[in-house]
Amino acid sequence: MKTSAFVLGALAVLVTNCAGQRDTALPSNLQNGARWPHGPFRTSGRDIVNALGETVTWAGVNWPLSGESMVPEGLEWLSANEILSKVSSVGFNFIRMGYAIQMIDEIYDHGGIDVTLEASLVSALGATNGTRVATAIVANNLALGWTLDTPRFKIFSDITRLAARRGIFIHPDAHVSKAQWCCSHTDGDAWFGDTNFQTRNWTRALTYVANWAKNQTNVVSMSLRNEPRESWTVPTLNYNWHTFVGNMTAGANAVHAANPDLLITWSGMQFGEDLSALTSRKNLLTAACYKCTAIRDAHRRDPVYFSLSNQTWADKVVWELHLYPTSEDLDTGNCRMIEAGLYRNGFNALGIQPPAACNATLDCPAAPRLTPVILSEFGHQQDATLDTDIVQNCLKEYTKRYSVSWSMWSLAGSYRVREGVQGFGDAWGLTNYNWTGWQYPSGVESHWRPWVEAMNVTKLG
Ligand SMILES: *[C@@H]1O[C@H](CO)[C@@H](O)[C@H](O)[C@H]1NC(C)=O
Ligand SMILES: *[C@@H]1O[C@H](CO)[C@@H](O)[C@H](O)[C@H]1NC(C)=O
Ligand SMILES: *[C@@H]1O[C@H](CO)[C@@H](O)[C@H](O)[C@H]1NC(C)=O
Ligand SMILES: *[C@@H]1O[C@H](CO)[C@@H](O)[C@H](O)[C@H]1NC(C)=O
Ligand SMILES: *[C@@H]1O[C@H](CO)[C@@H](O)[C@H](O)[C@H]1NC(C)=O
Ligand SMILES: *[C@@H]1O[C@H](CO)[C@@H](O)[C@H](O)[C@H]1NC(C)=O
Ligand SMILES: *[C@@H]1O[C@H](CO)[C@@H](O)[C@H](O)[C@H]1NC(C)=O
Ligand SMILES: *[C@@H]1O[C@H](CO)[C@@H](O)[C@H](O)[C@H]1NC(C)=O
Repeated sequence: MKTSAFVLGALAVLVTNCAGQRDTALPSNLQNGARWPHGPFRTSGRDIVNALGETVTWAGVNWPLSGESMVPEGLEWLSANEILSKVSSVGFNFIRMGYAIQMIDEIYDHGGIDVTLEASLVSALGATNGTRVATAIVANNLALGWTLDTPRFKIFSDITRLAARRGIFIHPDAHVSKAQWCCSHTDGDAWFGDTNFQTRNWTRALTYVANWAKNQTNVVSMSLRNEPRESWTVPTLNYNWHTFVGNMTAGANAVHAANPDLLITWSGMQFGEDLSALTSRKNLLTAACYKCTAIRDAHRRDPVYFSLSNQTWADKVVWELHLYPTSEDLDTGNCRMIEAGLYRNGFNALGIQPPAACNATLDCPAAPRLTPVILSEFGHQQDATLDTDIVQNCLKEYTKRYSVSWSMWSLAGSYRVREGVQGFGDAWGLTNYNWTGWQYPSGVESHWRPWVEAMNVTKLG
């Protein structure tokens, strides 16, 4: 999500059984691929497949935990189980959970001990509100045995385990370095080496989360970094395809070394919009790149290409793109142009036909390598304009037509703190302010539920 209008979403996953029947049993044994979710997952051409070789599709929501408190939003209003029940009731099978690298930094800074719920809330909200909200979270979640001293990762693990019982995948997403609302050019979280974005801290956190995931059967994937973008706080950083690939490769190496089972989602440049130089295998020194730092001697140097097939994690990478109407550069004015942009920016890796408007954009090369591409963020105000919005409805038809996994931004109808305001309401959230119902109930019925159903998402429970 970009600037104050944006939020993250979650994905729901679809599993087509070989025999076509739906597995309705709860997963009693989640180990060793024998039962749901049948991990580890890998990519096969344009598809994500489980250990049985079955294609899996996700449709879901983003559930943020990357705000200052570093605890998933909403738990002071409803229990974790009630929130997951709401998610599950729409059919969603995927939740993208954006966390802050700071959460892992603080574990290292405290000699390996995680920060407690109350300490984290007090640090984010002040003593009075912090203790009040922490107490409400504990009271809502007595069944989970949480106390004011429960560590943050225990909360994350418990939510993940409860999601597994409902057949919901949890996708940890390295959303920000410093815990705060994301994303802008000036938040210090924009690019490798930015004020808050130390590359070593980032790879260390990826390793930590990849290790944590070994204990979570329904974590079959994790992201490298949400929405890379040009930093305006440190103007000397080289923002371009070449440094992008260098850093993201280091991130993928870190994840894969710690946990070779995981799928690794790789976001695009310019707020997650653009992967064109990678999916179309262009020269990284000369490929077009919005707002990039020029490489002035590029034409005097040997070309540099990124070959996913040459990596040890070649069959683990899933491309990840976002699209919002507030894009700085992409034409979102009609669906024909949106589709041409999506193809150009990375969906060509699905091996689909170039859309009609490519005759106007003249920038729709075929991808040399098939790779899955997911739409892990997009969003809109949850009111009657949802039903007529161009981008929203274009993406809906697109994901259905091409079986593209997606997660909408976001579940959260309010944030305990965001952009300096405590108790921040968000009209883009699926839930209402106090999380007890939907913000736009008829939209859940007319828009979200039929969309999820059309994705053929199969889930447990
Ligand atoms: C990186 O981690 C170190 C050591 O854990 C910590 O002290 C530092 O604040 C972190 N750097 C950034 C920019 O967050
Ligand atoms: C894995 O999960 C079990 C059961 O929840 C827990 O007891 C154990 O401490 C966890 N191990 C790690 C490494 O997190
Ligand atoms: C990571 O990005 C920074 C900033 O652009 C750059 O200086 C550095 O060389 C990059 N690292 C790699 C391995 O490419
Ligand atoms: C990928 O590997 C092949 C075969 O080893 C090699 O010819 C090619 O140059 C490599 N490509 C890149 C971009 O590293
Ligand atoms: C592209 O094709 C459409 C019809 O499919 C046509 O209306 C439009 O004029 C064409 N644009 C160009 C630049 O050729
Ligand atoms: C405490 O929380 C309430 C409710 O969210 C909010 O209105 C109030 O401003 C907060 N207090 C402080 C000091 O931020
Ligand atoms: C939550 O908000 C709804 C709608 O605004 C309201 O009707 C309800 O009373 C609130 N519930 C709680 C527990 O605050
Ligand atoms: C879902 O299944 C129906 C019936 O088999 C099929 O027509 C449709 O294309 C499928 N949708 C997706 C997104 O795979």
